[in-house]
Amino acid sequence: MAQTPPPPIGGKVSRRDFLKLMAAAGTVMTFTPFVDWGKFLPNPTGNLSERQPVELPSGEQANVKDFPVNHSEAIIYPKTKDEVLNKEAFRTWQFIRLPEELGGAKNDASAFRVYSMVCLHLWCLWKYFPDTGRKRGECPCHGSMYDPMTGKAFAGPASLQGPPSNVLPRLDVEVDKDGKVWILPPTWSPDKNGIVGYGRFLNV
Ligand code: FES
Repeated sequence: MAQTPPPPIGGKVSRRDFLKLMAAAGTVMTFTPFVDWGKFLPNPTGNLSERQPVELPSGEQANVKDFPVNHSEAIIYPKTKDEVLNKEAFRTWQFIRLPEELGGAKNDASAFRVYSMVCLHLWCLWKYFPDTGRKRGECPCHGSMYDPMTGKAFAGPASLQGPPSNVLPRLDVEVDKDGKVWILPPTWSPDKNGIVGYGRFLNV
């Protein structure tokens, strides 16, 4: 028996419905720039008023004297006493000591970068790959790549997003006289440390 061919795509949407949809989309686009999206995103909370140690997975505080050049570790910030909260992706950061050619051999805070691991595309977790020919952040989901020097996406879907959603949020660090690395209190705003899952305006 002959089968009835499927209706053409969109064949069930009347012209009137189509115009209504276009009007709705236009309304959303009109108001989008005025919405403070940052207020709706889950930035990490906790005691952020004092500097905190960069605590490595080993439990030790990172030290400029022995943390390897061109190496990274995932760290939690801000850390709480609740192990469940500490597993939130929005508290997960990539602590990177840059490769030597980008200044990673220096014995001061400029050798380090700390970026949110939440990819700016669809929130998978990216990480830093130190291998020769890579030396960049890569997201396993859709291939976004991040410059370790700035946190800016330079390939993949995150790189196609407009500012600030093409640059990763960043934490600032300092190194004390003993070489220990500390995270300075952040300001969660796109023009300062950024908003986790949303981005940061690049001002370096
Ligand atoms: S979620 Fe990272 S590239 Fe899509």
